[in-house]
Amino acid sequence: MKVAVIGAAGGIGQALGLLLKLNLPAGSKLSLYDIAPVTPGVAADLSHIPTDVEVTGFGGEDCSPALEGADVVLISAGVARKPGMDRADLFNINAGIIKSLTAKVAEVCPKALLGIITNPVNTTVPIAAEVLKKAGVYDPKRLFGVTTLDVIRAETFIAEAKGKACSDIKVNVIGGHSGVTILPLLSQVEGVSFTDEEVTALTTRIQNAGTEVVEAKAGGGSATLSMGQAAARFGLSLIKGLQGEEVIECAYVQGAGDNAEFFAQPVKLGKNGVEAILDYGSISEFEQKALDDMLPTLKGDIEKGVEFGQAE
Ligand code: NAD
Ligand code: LMR
Repeated sequence: MKVAVIGAAGGIGQALGLLLKLNLPAGSKLSLYDIAPVTPGVAADLSHIPTDVEVTGFGGEDCSPALEGADVVLISAGVARKPGMDRADLFNINAGIIKSLTAKVAEVCPKALLGIITNPVNTTVPIAAEVLKKAGVYDPKRLFGVTTLDVIRAETFIAEAKGKACSDIKVNVIGGHSGVTILPLLSQVEGVSFTDEEVTALTTRIQNAGTEVVEAKAGGGSATLSMGQAAARFGLSLIKGLQGEEVIECAYVQGAGDNAEFFAQPVKLGKNGVEAILDYGSISEFEQKALDDMLPTLKGDIEKGVEFGQAE
């Protein structure tokens, strides 16, 4: 298996590179690309860790050499939020970055599973879909918005609130990856129950957790270490799926259709990427209202991406 990390010298990229170097199956290849000149150094640094994963670093203007033969591509290239900004404020810079990097993926490794981390995810994923469509290589089963950070945050916060082991908490987070579009399905969490006040407080905390980190870092960026872990979990699940194991993760994909054209929900992963988009089950009245309320925002985010992706 070959995994390419694009944006590999950044905060997420370095944490993700480390976790993949430690956890990819023996014999895998890890390919790192970033426009930052430090990238070959990041690769050299990681390559001294004694695991059977070969690390290669690439810099320069063209990411093609890093993408050659990739089975999985994870993109975290772009700018991160500062206090006072919304994820949507990143659109002006990150939309163009995703457009040009996805065009390279379409050209060099069109069959790779592509995970987009770069914000605003609600919009960058539709951009990537349009670029892949234009190149004639779009397969919705192979394109993912990485929303795993919302899931691990929900698991952590619920475990903390209820005095449980984190590993005992499983929760689906549906919708998108921004503010009100992030909807943890607390009503379905097994082994715990919540008061109405707890549901409101936990939902709000999970929705605002990115901002919590942005403010705490005080201008030094957004979540990188927890996102590195989330992206590693998702990337390793993609690899397990490719290797024939059945794995389920929440991800922002096209095709569920009932709520919005792109929607995060549980997805069964397999040899072709998405094996099945799973039903997220019955939800509470509170969750149904939150879902209904988020849809105009989510659909607007998607429309913006489609328009940008289709423009010449
Ligand atoms: P960072 O600034 O630390 O790193 C970004 C890296 O991208 C830099 O090293 C930069 O050189 C590189 N880069 C910029 N343009 C590039 C290009 N065209 N090709 C290759 N590399 C390029 O930022 P970060 O903290 O790693 O965050 C990266 C992105 O991930 C941001 O958009 C952030 O909002 C997003 N993010 C998403 C989630 C999520 O849950 N999906 C979570 C956290 C952050
Ligand atoms: C997060 O959820 O931490 C990321 O999307 C980064 C951000 O800007 O909040």
